[in-house]
This record gives sequence, C-alpha cells and structure tokens, in this order.
Amino acid sequence: MPLSSYRRFAEVYDWEGSIDFSRQAFRRLMAICREYGIAPGWHLDLGCGTGTLAILMAEAGWKVIGLDLSEAMLAQARRKAAEAGRKILFVRQDMRQLRIAEPVKLVTSFYDTLNHLSSGTGRRRRSAGISKLLACVQSGGKPSIHFPCPVAET
Ligand SMILES: C[S@@+](CC[C@H](N)C(=O)[O-])C[C@H]1O[C@@H](n2cnc3c(N)ncnc32)[C@H](O)[C@@H]1O
Repeated sequence: MPLSSYRRFAEVYDWEGSIDFSRQAFRRLMAICREYGIAPGWHLDLGCGTGTLAILMAEAGWKVIGLDLSEAMLAQARRKAAEAGRKILFVRQDMRQLRIAEPVKLVTSFYDTLNHLSSGTGRRRRSAGISKLLACVQSGGKPSIHFPCPVAET
C-alpha cells in the first residue's frame, strides 16, 4: 500500500475494527506469555499503526518500542499513549531496512502488516519482513506474526 494512503487511513483506523483486533491479540499474547513463563521485558511492535497494542503492552509492564513507516499513524499512536499516560518509544522506520540497537525479548507484527510491505512479490516481501523480524529477537525470545489470510502473489 502506498505510504500516502495511510494519511487518510490514520484518521479512521481506530473505527474500523483494529482496536478490537488488538485487544484480542493482546489477550492471546498474554496467554502465550503465561503458558511459556515469559516475564515482561523489551517488546518491539513492527508496523505498530495507531499504537493500541503498544499501549496495552506498556500497561502490562512491558517496555515498548512501536515502529512504523507512516508519520500519520505514529502521530495517532503518540497522542493515544500520551492520553493513556504511557511512555512508549515510537520510531519512524522502514521495517524492510530495520535497525535496532539491541535484540528484544518479544517482537510482534500483527493485523496483516507484513502483507502491507510494498516492494517485491508477495512471497518475497513477506520472507524479507520475517527475516528482519527474526533478527531482532534476542536468544530465547519470541517472534509473533499474524497472517489473516492467504494473499494472491503480485
Ligand atoms: C494494517 S496496519 C496494522 C497496524 C497494527 N499492527 C495493528 O495491529 O493495528 C499496517 C501498518 O504497517 C505500516 N507499514 C507499512 N509498510 C511499512 C514498512 N515498510 N515499515 C514499517 N511499517 C510499515 C503501516 O503504516 C500501518 O500502520
């Protein structure tokens, strides 16, 4: 999806179901963390959008980095985090050229984000996104990726 599309998308994004999805994903993630005995640490959310998951994770005691390419999405995320009184590091970066200082304990990329990467064929862009994502996970940490449905190759 072209980056310019997210400007308009950011204004309406939270009305079209993403908040419900993030809440469900958060509950599922917490259940997985309980099951595997994963205590809070650093969490990186790739393609964090308007920051709903990042804020829920911060409320659960995680130190969160929300990374997204769209300044419009990040602006909503920063506004919501400030309203919720949560300190979250929101970073504008292209996850295809991901650079982070240190690997983290938990990396997520939810709600179809890898299918939004806009270069290469569908399969190639997803595998590039996945390899970048895995490179950020510290030893013993967990990656968690969400693919809602198969996507036609382009
Ligand atoms: C469908 S939204 C998902 C947002 C969020 N993960 C959620 O669960 O609501 C896809 C997000 O990926 C971001 N995105 C698209 N291409 C990106 C890229 N190359 N690097 C980082 N973020 C990107 C978009 O700006 C958008 O916020």
